[in-house]
Amino acid sequence: MRILIDTDCGVDDAQAIMMALRQPGATVEAITTVTGNAHVKHVNRNVLTVLDVMGADVPVFPGADQPLVPGYWEAEARVHGEDGLGGYKNRPATARQLEAEPAAAALVRLASEAPGQYTLVALGPLTNVALACRLDSLFPDKIRQLVFMGGTISALGNTRNVTAEFNAYCDPEAAEIVLDAFAQATMLSWETTLKHPFTWEQYDALAATDTPAGRFFRDTTITTVDYLRQFRQVPGYLLPDPLAMAITLRPELVRESAMHYARVELQGRATRGQTVIDYMGLLEREPNVSIVTGLDTAGVYALYQQMLA
Ligand code: RIB
Ligand code: CA
Repeated sequence: MRILIDTDCGVDDAQAIMMALRQPGATVEAITTVTGNAHVKHVNRNVLTVLDVMGADVPVFPGADQPLVPGYWEAEARVHGEDGLGGYKNRPATARQLEAEPAAAALVRLASEAPGQYTLVALGPLTNVALACRLDSLFPDKIRQLVFMGGTISALGNTRNVTAEFNAYCDPEAAEIVLDAFAQATMLSWETTLKHPFTWEQYDALAATDTPAGRFFRDTTITTVDYLRQFRQVPGYLLPDPLAMAITLRPELVRESAMHYARVELQGRATRGQTVIDYMGLLEREPNVSIVTGLDTAGVYALYQQMLA
């Protein structure tokens, strides 16, 4: 499996990238970065840090530093810290360099060089992917599969527009462009994330892994976890991007999914960024997203054990 990862590398993105880097039979051939959890200048540094920790050599292409439409984005420092990696302190100086080619141009070039070969896993706002669709209208046809973490499927969001999930909320225009351009995409929503956490006991076991990857996992998560564990309504350790990566690497982990037509609200005073799912087929549009609603969390835990070993 030849993988391209587009990321706003925050803490959970880092885990998704680590999972792919340690998956036999999968090669991460490029990583593109985008502003989301943190500004792209932090995201760039965070991706290089993950590659340092994992000892992996993957080209990193810097991407959009703001959404398509300015004025709405704000970093998610409460969850990911100002730097986007939970305030991770032990950063050795990196010898790695970013590529000069911008992310969207790299996505278009790579897809054109190997049409039908790449699986694109989008873990942040879809700004780069939307730009790629506008640079090359055939880009979606050249991508074997698009899997993205984003959106809501029952209006249960995690932003101030309470029906909108963060990635779609940051750049709704980009999400609308991408959902319109790709005949089919696989969607891992916020509600599906809430339904499939690790237990705190599972988190504790993983965080005790005494390896470089295990210590990195603990060091980048402990602050947020210590904060979140105090709230009863937090069901456990949430895995938004890692779930999207897990079902990409191991499609057999999907237990329930269905095809529906989806688009994005762009104008709503209270709902801008909501992904609107036409469950009843009222719009008479071809379904464009495979909405994953059930998956095998035990299989995801095994992927974590593998990636932290
Ligand atoms: O809503 C969760 C998503 O927003 C995840 O991708 C997380 O990394 C943030 O980007
Ligand atoms: Ca992300």
